[in-house]
Amino acid sequence: MNYHVKNIKLSEEGKRRIEWAEREMPVLRLIKNRFIKEKPLKGVRLGCCLHVTTETANLAITLKAGGANVALCASNPLSTQDDVAASLVKDFGIPTFAIKAEDNKTYYKHIQSVIDTKPQVTMDDGADVVGILHKNFKELLLDIIGGTEETTTGVIRLRAMERDGVLEYPIISVNDADTKHLFDNRYGTGQSTLDGIIRATNILFSGKNVVVAGYGWCGRGVASRSKGMGANTIVTEVDPTKALEAAMDGFPVMSMEQASKIGDIFITLTGNTSVLREEHFSKMKDGAIVCNSGHFNVEIDIPALKKMSKSTREVRSFVEEFNLKNGKKIYLLAEGRLVNLSAAEGHPASVMDMSFANQALSAEYLVKNRKNPMNSNLEKKVYPVPKEIDQEIARLKLKSMGISIDQLTKEQEKYLSSWQEGT
Ligand code: ADE
Repeated sequence: MNYHVKNIKLSEEGKRRIEWAEREMPVLRLIKNRFIKEKPLKGVRLGCCLHVTTETANLAITLKAGGANVALCASNPLSTQDDVAASLVKDFGIPTFAIKAEDNKTYYKHIQSVIDTKPQVTMDDGADVVGILHKNFKELLLDIIGGTEETTTGVIRLRAMERDGVLEYPIISVNDADTKHLFDNRYGTGQSTLDGIIRATNILFSGKNVVVAGYGWCGRGVASRSKGMGANTIVTEVDPTKALEAAMDGFPVMSMEQASKIGDIFITLTGNTSVLREEHFSKMKDGAIVCNSGHFNVEIDIPALKKMSKSTREVRSFVEEFNLKNGKKIYLLAEGRLVNLSAAEGHPASVMDMSFANQALSAEYLVKNRKNPMNSNLEKKVYPVPKEIDQEIARLKLKSMGISIDQLTKEQEKYLSSWQEGT
């Protein structure tokens, strides 16, 4: 088997941690047990580009249990858990190409290794595989049944491809499922981002001025958890409705120009570029900490920070000190990459359970909807996860939590479908 991991001898610890995560993934476990019996993905070549974590390992094992030939690479150079990558190869026979802190060349070489398996279904977190296939491997596109996309940034790129008429196969936007973004983006990012900052720095949140840039689902989650930890949490936004929502949720909302003077910690989660830039760095307090939890490492203008600095040095793992020419210091975490996956372990298994249940069932849906022998009945568009799948995942998750809910009575069903009744 072809693979490239840091050290295959790390597999034992990886296996133990994969099993630990599985305990918190009851919905995915139910799907795995059905997949073992039904083999809905039998013989399908599945190319995955995801953060290589204990949770992703459980997804890959589930897909393989469904009969797929899975190959996996990382969707970020800093997010790989090397013990997990080793265990996937050694214990589960899944070709894995991922090494934590790989350079950009190796990162793309690993994506290439997955593309070399000629995937019929792609599973992306950030649309890198779809992008590279469309740019450089047009001949492979004909055999592709479809793909899935995990994250907001990836979906934005794919919608742009659809709009420009260049998308060559159907994609299911897992991110848009309610059982994904309402939980993973909000509670997952909320907790894991603070976890990453705390593991990297060991700072106390209580009493700090924390500036959260972006009030989408991820920003909402981080702001709420930061407030809960006792930090004075400030929100910056460009969207007036989201800014209003943040204000009515009780957060001070202001421009980054104002916030840059008072923040102790800055967290970007916007999906956009250069959110923190020279005009902000120059106003920051001595000792300010800047980090990012958005998909790409473009939200903090690191080249500008370098240009403003006399020198830099690593003061702790994942903490780089920039000595500015104005005499102040700014601390950058995890090279401006996703701090939750770089300095911590990403979202906890319990929320990834729902995200990856959506992934597994969406892959099955794509394969069920293929035209014989290949291709798809679906159009070359970005589709939502079918509502029945989304709701079934919510039902199963509630059941696993021991929560029962009410059902509509016959009278209520009738009331909801009638238009005659008033006061
Ligand atoms: N994205 C955020 N957290 C993750 C995790 N734990 N595993 C895979 N992808 C993630």
